[in-house]
Amino acid sequence: MTDLLPVEPLTRLRERRSAKWRTYGPEVLPLTIAEMDFALPDAVKTVLAEAVERSDTGYAMPTDGLGEALSAFAERRWGLRIDPAAVTAATDVSTGVVEMLRLFTTPGDRVVINTPVYPPFFDWLNEARAELHEVPLKDGWQLDLAALDRAFATGPAAFVLCNPQNPVGRVHTPEELAAVVELATRHGVPVISDEIHAPLVLPGATFTPFLSVPGAAEIGVSVMSGSKAFNLAALKCAMIVTASRRMADVVAKLPPDTRWRTGHFGVLASTAAYTHGDAWLDRLLLTLDDRRSLLTKLIHDRLPSVSWRPPQATYLAWLDCRSSGSGTAPRDLFLGAGVALEPGTRFGEHSGYVRLNFGTSAEVLELAVDRMASAL
Ligand SMILES: Cc1ncc(COP(=O)(O)O)c(C=O)c1O
Repeated sequence: MTDLLPVEPLTRLRERRSAKWRTYGPEVLPLTIAEMDFALPDAVKTVLAEAVERSDTGYAMPTDGLGEALSAFAERRWGLRIDPAAVTAATDVSTGVVEMLRLFTTPGDRVVINTPVYPPFFDWLNEARAELHEVPLKDGWQLDLAALDRAFATGPAAFVLCNPQNPVGRVHTPEELAAVVELATRHGVPVISDEIHAPLVLPGATFTPFLSVPGAAEIGVSVMSGSKAFNLAALKCAMIVTASRRMADVVAKLPPDTRWRTGHFGVLASTAAYTHGDAWLDRLLLTLDDRRSLLTKLIHDRLPSVSWRPPQATYLAWLDCRSSGSGTAPRDLFLGAGVALEPGTRFGEHSGYVRLNFGTSAEVLELAVDRMASAL
């Protein structure tokens, strides 16, 4: 137990000024936005504190070690070889995906996504002025390869893959990804693989980077970030990664100014986390595994009408509340009892579902489930 990451008491967490902690009043436990409640890795704290001490708060120099740090991290964690020169910094994953969509599409083109999915996927398409082509995941939240084949045959301009998939926490298998590459190659559909949750693959599952799949480099890019795994969302830094000349040529067309839009603190913190954060990350994964087990037990004991599939990755639980017997939308029901969750409707047509963030302490999780049980 001692190896698990500690979480500060609720009173201290409530001093945080981030969106997760400021959206609701003190009577509500916020298990919404994907931010974690653990303290940062020491290497991140140090690099940020030193920068503040130097008043080093200017623009980012994203070429300075970020690509090397990600490359070494990817090789150690996933056996993936990345050329540091093929890493392009972006403000965040959202901006990276939108900018890539702008390069792959012209207004009115269709883009394929798999639902349920992280809500901004819908917004990103709007921002790029692309049309939505939705291909729902099938039973067990697997990629529906036959439906993807049919969708790709209609000539969409791009496919945005979520690997691992938020909110269901599924890690797509090497076989599924090989099939995606075959389909995308055959139909000429470029793939943007959002891999923000990649370092958060929990014990029992193995992450397959999209670019590790034979043939993927020619038809796709990966967008990565340390922001979920190391809790750095504030700092604004993500990476667009290519592994072929063809895709590097596409990325080279990004507006030159994008390089100035990455956060300096994000580059410093991501570089430090990728370089020195392995031990902390391993503790985090054990801690999240512990919370996943706790939540399994709590749901079994206290919320028997709720069903779910414990995620293979992420700190997000996708809860099916359709059998709870209440006429009220589950999100409203639980909010009334003092627990804020993300409503399933934001992720696609999933009104009976809620998404719960378990990146917190056992105490907060137990209190939240107590309150949810009282609502049911
Ligand atoms: C799948 C996925 N992509 C992107 C993001 C947002 O990333 P960023 O803050 O880097 O834009 C999130 C945030 O939770 C996410 O879950």
